[in-house]
Parts: sequence; C-alpha cells; structure tokens
Amino acid sequence: MSELIRRVVLLALLVCLVRGDDPFLTEPPDYIKECKIADKNFVNCSTQSIQQLFDKLNDGIPGLTSIKSFDPFHLNRIRISQGNSNAINLKVELANIKIFGFGHTKVLESLVFKKDYSWKTTFTLPVMKLQGDYSLFGRILLIPLNGHGQVFLDAENMTVTMHTKTRLYSKGGFTFYNVTNCRVDFKMDGLKSYFSNLFNGNKQLEDSTNKFFNDNWRMLADALYTVITQTIEDILLDVLKKIFHFIPANYFVSDIPTPEQLYGKTKPKPK
Ligand SMILES: *[C@@H]1O[C@H](CO)[C@@H](O)[C@H](O)[C@H]1NC(C)=O
Ligand SMILES: *[C@@H]1O[C@H](CO)[C@@H](O)[C@H](O)[C@H]1NC(C)=O
Ligand SMILES: *[C@@H]1O[C@H](CO)[C@@H](O)[C@H](O)[C@H]1NC(C)=O
Repeated sequence: MSELIRRVVLLALLVCLVRGDDPFLTEPPDYIKECKIADKNFVNCSTQSIQQLFDKLNDGIPGLTSIKSFDPFHLNRIRISQGNSNAINLKVELANIKIFGFGHTKVLESLVFKKDYSWKTTFTLPVMKLQGDYSLFGRILLIPLNGHGQVFLDAENMTVTMHTKTRLYSKGGFTFYNVTNCRVDFKMDGLKSYFSNLFNGNKQLEDSTNKFFNDNWRMLADALYTVITQTIEDILLDVLKKIFHFIPANYFVSDIPTPEQLYGKTKPKPK
C-alpha cells in the first residue's frame, strides 16, 4: 500500500516537472530542417525550414499549447496615435481583433546574421483579412472622423519584411533564441476596407466615405501604415517568442554558438 502511494507521489512529481511552466523540446522535430550556417546554401535551407515551421503552425506545434490559434489569430487590443501632418492625424483603437491569412504565409527568404543572430525574413501573404471593433478620432485623407463600429480590412498580396532581434541563452544543454524585438515593413497590391457606423448612423456619408477609401486605397494604406505594422508586429513577436522558447535554436541552426561563445564569458563584477 505504502509502495503504491510512494509511486503515485513520484509519478505526480515527474508530471509536474515535465509539465512545468517552461517545457521545451529535447528531440529534433521532424517538421523542420536543420541547417548549417557555415554552409553556402544556408539561406536556401533556412528558407525551407522556416516555411515548414509556418506550415506546421497551421495545425499547431505538438506540445506548444500557448499558441491557441494561428489562423485566425486573435488580438485583444491595439492603440495607435499618429501623425500631425495634413494627411494623417489619427487616434485609432482596435479591439477584439481577428486576423485571417497567416496560415498561407509563403516564405521568400530567411537570413540569419552570424554577427548577432538577428534575422531578416521576407514572406508574402496572398490574403490578409482583419476584422474587429474600431474607434477612431482624427482625419484620414483630410476627412474628419469620429466614430466607432466594426472594421473589415482585406489586404491583397502583402509582402512583409521582418527584422528580428534575438539574444541567445542556454537551457538544458541547448542554445535558445530569446526573441526580443520584431519590426516589420510591408507593401501590398490592394486594400479593400469597410468601416461601419463611421458617422454615427449617417448612412449616406458612411457609404460615400467607404467608397472614397476603396477608390483611394493606396492613400488609405499609407494612413493606416502604423496600425497595420503594429498589428503584424504584435502577432509575430508573440508567436516567435513562444516558438523559440520551446524549440532549441540548434534544431534550426545546428552549428549555432553557445551564448558564451557568441558574447564571451560574463565578467564577474569587480569587488
Ligand atoms: C533551394 O534550392 C533548390 C535547388 O537548387 C530549389 O529547387 C529550391 O527552390 C530552393 N528553395 C528556396 C526556398 O530557395
Ligand atoms: C528574454 O529577454 C527579456 C528582455 O527582452 C528578459 O526579460 C527575459 O528574462 C529573457 N528571457 C530569457 C529566458 O533569457
Ligand atoms: C496578386 O498576385 C497574383 C499572383 O502574382 C496576381 O495574379 C494578382 O493579380 C495580384 N493581385 C493584385 C490585386 O494585384
């Protein structure tokens, strides 16, 4: 009897350890390709590997439960104040945001810089749709706005360039990426938009303004540039942080240095 209790307690302890706050992979996953940064086809290999990672994110990375859903992706809130120029002078808040399309990401190029293990990643999103609640105050394309309602944005053929900063750290005998910063810029081939209730129920003005935005989508895309980049950065930073605390960097770059090799030994503080 006491032997049974001992075993149950032992088992419970083991499960706690394995299911601790910060579980991570200790076997190379079959869904990504290991690449050697010293090889001359590294960029080609790394591009394929990151493509496979994006593809896998779609059905969920086994064991990584903190990413609930990638496509659609949910964001609670984004607040932006921007500009003081004639074209843009805007306060925007988005809430209950759903973004569709990251599941169809096509990775064009994945660069990793040996100097500091930062990355430059270029990818396209054939479609990216955003829907959510908006409130905005200010001017877009000289039109004074002060409304709140629902927004739909539909961007076509987005090309995104992502600049990611990392800091290497050691865990369980592996090197990991701590993704510390993610900045994006983008261009697109088209933007359809719809804002409900732009003028507190003045339907005629709302319709003509929505039509105006669609006819002048390039100017609208410029006006909303910060809102859109912020949205994409928030999504990617969140997802990348979770992935790279979970999957050792060694499984992406097999010859990655240890933090000590890259940064040098941290000197003890002078007494
Ligand atoms: C990598 O190289 C192979 C063969 O040269 C080529 O077929 C493939 O399209 C390349 N992949 C990428 C992502 O550049
Ligand atoms: C990752 O970096 C953040 C600062 O950006 C720091 O607060 C955090 O402790 C780091 N995590 C690890 C595991 O090194
Ligand atoms: C998006 O890209 C595809 C493939 O290159 C092209 O056929 C389509 O016309 C593009 N869409 C727009 C709005 O330019």
